[in-house]
Amino acid sequence: MSAHRFLIWGGRGWIAGHLEALLQKQGKEVYTTTVRVEDREAVKIELNRIKPTHVINCAGCTGRPNVDWCEDHKEETMRSNVIGTLNLTDLCFLAGLHCTVFATGCIYQYDDVHPIGGTAYKETDPFNFTGSFYSETKGHAEEVMKHYTNCLILRLRMPVSDDLHPRSFVTKISKYERVVDIPNSNSVLTDLLPAAILLAEHGDTGVYNFTNPGAISHNEVLALFRDIVRPGFTWKNFTLEDQAHVIKAGRSNCELDSTNLENKLKEYGYVVPEIHEAYRLCFERMKAAGTQ
Ligand SMILES: NC(=O)c1ccc[n+]([C@@H]2O[C@H](COP(=O)([O-])OP(=O)(O)OC[C@H]3O[C@@H](n4cnc5c(N)ncnc54)[C@H](OP(=O)(O)O)[C@@H]3O)[C@@H](O)[C@H]2O)c1
Repeated sequence: MSAHRFLIWGGRGWIAGHLEALLQKQGKEVYTTTVRVEDREAVKIELNRIKPTHVINCAGCTGRPNVDWCEDHKEETMRSNVIGTLNLTDLCFLAGLHCTVFATGCIYQYDDVHPIGGTAYKETDPFNFTGSFYSETKGHAEEVMKHYTNCLILRLRMPVSDDLHPRSFVTKISKYERVVDIPNSNSVLTDLLPAAILLAEHGDTGVYNFTNPGAISHNEVLALFRDIVRPGFTWKNFTLEDQAHVIKAGRSNCELDSTNLENKLKEYGYVVPEIHEAYRLCFERMKAAGTQ
């Protein structure tokens, strides 16, 4: 067993569960906690109790049933996504600990300089999507947190698991009555979570667009789902304007440039497949597991 000791915050969350299982599968020493990240004294005690070498922050206020919740619960959202996230990072810094934060790439939207199919957003581009309060808290927190020298910020987007968990992007769009059809960067967890562990174990820091390379549209995802997993599946589209009538907060649509991530992972001999290929592989695993 390695000398690394992982402590995952937000221990009962979806991504936390996947990471814990993966670390266990790799034979790593891993602990989880549900201590509130904004509670400075309790976080200090927890760090002292477990004595991790690596903290992974999977805690975040994501809203239930979705991010619309954050529009009406702004203080709670800030407490977790701004105060708490910074608090945990700061306490790790003071304790000399590496801290990986699962952030979001939903802080951008296509614009004239970054149109659909054009230049993708780099890590250094300032966030420009504040259409939802959830994204606003994440954008602001990242903007200051990136200056912590112990911190690795991984920007997930529309994460996808190999099963049909309700939080997976595929499950969501396959159940909506109507879906928009816009290319987006997505994160296939089976491809990306091992990369998060690699980066953390190497002590890497800074911000990474943490997605598979490329962008894929909703219709492309659903067509692959139909062709590989669920023959005969059908869906209906609607426009962004029509979508705006059924949601409270806006939703980000953008492509992130994953070149920095690809180059860094090359150093460790790890390759993340392009998003169309990644979905094909993901759906084949889903079919093989019989979870459809
Ligand atoms: N899933 C996505 O679509 C997506 C996309 C991009 C980024 N992310 C980010 O990735 C992270 C993990 O997401 P997820 O999908 O695994 O979400 P999740 O299933 O909602 O898990 C988040 C966990 O964080 C905990 N939490 C919330 N506020 C907390 C606080 N103040 N202190 C301690 N724990 C707290 C929640 O516990 P309680 O329920 O007890 O509050 C929950 O168990 C989040 O930061 C999220 O913003 C997710």
